Amino acid sequence: MLCRRSAKWCLESVSRRHHRRCYSASTGPDPFKLVEPHLSEVRSSLFDLLGSGHPAISEITKYYFLHPAKHVRPVIVLLLSQATNGLGSNWGQKLWEAQNQEGGSRAEDLNEPLTRPDVLNDWNPSLPGTTPFRSNFTLKPAKPHRPSLPKSPQNHLPRPPSLHSPTYVLPTQIRLAQIVEMLHTASLLHDDVIDESALRRGAASAPSAFGNKQSVLGGNFVLGRASTALPRLGDAEVTQLIASVISNLVEGEILQLKEIHLDGSPEAASQTRQDAWNIYLHKTYLKTASLMAKGARSAVVLGGCKEGEIWKEVAYAYGRNLGIAFQLTDDFLDYESASATLGKPGGADLQLGLATGPALYAWEEFPEIGELIRRKFEQPGDVELARDLVLRSSGVQRTKDLAQSYADKAKEVLQELPESEAKAALQVLAERVVGRRS
Ligand code: FPP
Ligand code: MG
Repeated sequence: MLCRRSAKWCLESVSRRHHRRCYSASTGPDPFKLVEPHLSEVRSSLFDLLGSGHPAISEITKYYFLHPAKHVRPVIVLLLSQATNGLGSNWGQKLWEAQNQEGGSRAEDLNEPLTRPDVLNDWNPSLPGTTPFRSNFTLKPAKPHRPSLPKSPQNHLPRPPSLHSPTYVLPTQIRLAQIVEMLHTASLLHDDVIDESALRRGAASAPSAFGNKQSVLGGNFVLGRASTALPRLGDAEVTQLIASVISNLVEGEILQLKEIHLDGSPEAASQTRQDAWNIYLHKTYLKTASLMAKGARSAVVLGGCKEGEIWKEVAYAYGRNLGIAFQLTDDFLDYESASATLGKPGGADLQLGLATGPALYAWEEFPEIGELIRRKFEQPGDVELARDLVLRSSGVQRTKDLAQSYADKAKEVLQELPESEAKAALQVLAERVVGRRS
């Protein structure tokens, strides 16, 4: 049915209804519902980035994207965009670029390659302009030089920082949310091979469904596609930040393999425990928090925040603390499921040889765990003994407290931002990350 009232009224009414759906008076706005319209955009155009002339590649690379996921990382990017857009001194230019023909950051431009499309994309039957390999490649005329982006007319006017109203997320920030999810998915395609996981999100893992080789190669393909989309965001700092996450993810996995050495004396044991904690928290940053922190910072950079402005520091500090709280929560939940599921092994981390927060805390109360950690719970009965000792110790509760302290810090750094629904939703998100049950 056509809306008879003015378009403006309709938009306001839709936005009021959206607000009612997103907001609960006791808990604050629901972070996922608040950005739901943008999240559906993130989901719907993701498959366009993953198309290939080879159906087998498409099938594996799309596999994890087809399973329902929480999309925590894109939500962080989208909420931080909403909570800071307008504050950065280059916001006027960014908005103008997104809305004007002359700019290079409009939604349509983001799908335009920076180099010739037929060179970049190889042959793909669903991509117009690409050339099959059966014929010789004919020389094409050179592309005309594209002049650098013009400046927006209002950009030079100084203005006090204030949030853009109504909230607006730039096309580049939506594409960033997709790239961040692609990196995460690429890492899972590798991780499930390393961890030999049979299941992911309640279904067969990619290695179980397609085999290890396909899973690793599929992960690399997703990484390649994310890397192709990244420079199109038009910001060298963002390219650097996100590319560095890829090395961080690998460093985190390698650090996780590191062995500890015990020499027997109580003083040395205390030092070794301290070293093990440092490695564990460093690994947690690299493997989990780096993507959230650098994704969050990149969102704010894309919104026009310049060096010397506090907003991108807030975003990074929020993402870093939230990411560590997220992983610590995963780590204590692993033991809670072990204690709750009677008759089932549970404690997947111990079976992988990993000593996470609860085991490291338990080591203080039960020194004999040190030897089990050193030999990565390899001998028969090690996993069961370690699990029993951890559950008898205060390790799970202390890890919960530590996760809460990181979540509290994430909320505290948000105080620098002006009040907004997105800021309140970021606060709710920090509480949800530590309060979840799975
Ligand atoms: C899940 O951890 C895994 C990660 C967060 C990162 C994995 C990173 C790599 C395998 C490095 C290679 C990455 C790329 C991008 C090439 P988990 O095993 O603790 O959690 P899970 O229970 O969800 O599997
Ligand atoms: Mg895993």
